Amino acid sequence: MPALRSEIRQGAYYDSVVLMQLQRGLLTLPGVLDAGAVMATPVNLELLEASGLRPAEAPSSDDLLIVVRAETDVAAGEALFVAKGCVMCHVHAAVSELRELSLEVGPELTSYRNAPEFLRLWLSNPAGVRPKTGMPDLDLSGEEIEALIGFLNQEA
Ligand code: HEC
Repeated sequence: MPALRSEIRQGAYYDSVVLMQLQRGLLTLPGVLDAGAVMATPVNLELLEASGLRPAEAPSSDDLLIVVRAETDVAAGEALFVAKGCVMCHVHAAVSELRELSLEVGPELTSYRNAPEFLRLWLSNPAGVRPKTGMPDLDLSGEEIEALIGFLNQEA
């Protein structure tokens, strides 16, 4: 059963209401079995442990931790599309209920497909592919990139 964890190491403070909304949003996505979006404080890590979502590596307590357990890689990729903020710049029909969040500064990705080799380069370092791109490097792990590619290239 694929489980994915994401740490966003920004050391920034995230409002607990925002995190609760993010967590609820992730839980409503199809195929998502469990999700957590919390600051990695010792108490929160214990709570994640209790639900079997605690990551193996130890993050620092001012990291934001987003943890998703999903039925399939496509479902995990979809959850990451929301959790990593892709949805802020791109519209995708699979998460159309979040359309109002989107600034629509990037292309609509519903029927977008591309070679995994290209997407690996693009998602790991957009400016390395196109120096003037408006897409930021989102500091994605290899595991996250594979799940996102599975989501983007899923069969229609
Ligand atoms: C801050 C806005 C922003 C965010 C966040 C963002 N993108 Fe983009 N993305 C863009 C823009 C703008 C483009 C247009 C391409 C360019 O600038 O050349 C783009 C292009 C793309 C493309 C098309 C690449 C091509 O040319 O074939 C893909 C695929 C893509 N983004 C996926 C993602 C994924 C997946 C995420 C989340 C991990 C994401 N984007 C997050 C702004 C964003």
